[in-house]
Amino acid sequence: MDDERTITDREGRRYRLRPIRPDDADALQRAYDRMDLRDRRARLFAPIPALSDAFAEQFCTIDESREFCFVLESDDEPGELLGGCRLMGDAAARVGEYSVSLRSDLKGRGLGRRLMEILLAEADARGFETVYGIILADNAAMIALVRQLGFDVERDPDDWQLVRATRQRAA
Ligand SMILES: CC(C)(COP(=O)(O)OP(=O)(O)OC[C@H]1O[C@@H](n2cnc3c(N)ncnc32)[C@H](O)[C@@H]1OP(=O)(O)O)[C@@H](O)C(=O)NCCC(=O)NCCS
Repeated sequence: MDDERTITDREGRRYRLRPIRPDDADALQRAYDRMDLRDRRARLFAPIPALSDAFAEQFCTIDESREFCFVLESDDEPGELLGGCRLMGDAAARVGEYSVSLRSDLKGRGLGRRLMEILLAEADARGFETVYGIILADNAAMIALVRQLGFDVERDPDDWQLVRATRQRAA
């Protein structure tokens, strides 16, 4: 996905999805501020109170050869980011770790599923063979979602607080 596309939630509300840009760092910090503690922990595995400038800038800088990140916007909130999805590949761009998150007030509208579907389609189009995610074992929503999307889910053998969800590209 090189430019912008429109997606809709379960109630038919429309949003725009586009690749992240370096100048998104401030909006990314504001979006993070609007995630509740539980969601911050689910996303970063610790309830980190705020995204530092350095962290936000790093999130907005993409290595195009093996990584992509799309962010969600709405005409109702110009200049704000509502959520996004990212795939970070290995050096060969064959195995990638996904991440996905939404502002807490926008959960439960079907947007997480749309973001994951688009991420997987993009990963397939770019030739990734394996997409995986590390998920907190108590993140029931994310675990249910990846199961619905056909991922295999297994306990992390080294950390009882984590599960690993893996999806191989269909042959
Ligand atoms: C995980 C997350 C992306 C899901 O997005 P969402 O838009 O709320 O989810 P959707 O509305 O698309 O729901 C998709 C599926 O997820 C599951 N799900 C969503 N909310 C759920 C909940 N509260 N409890 C259990 N399952 C839930 C359901 O299986 C649902 O399918 P269904 O509607 O057919 O039942 C979102 O909750 C989020 O951003 N959480 C915080 C960050 C995070 O956990 N990121 C993942 C890190 S690995």
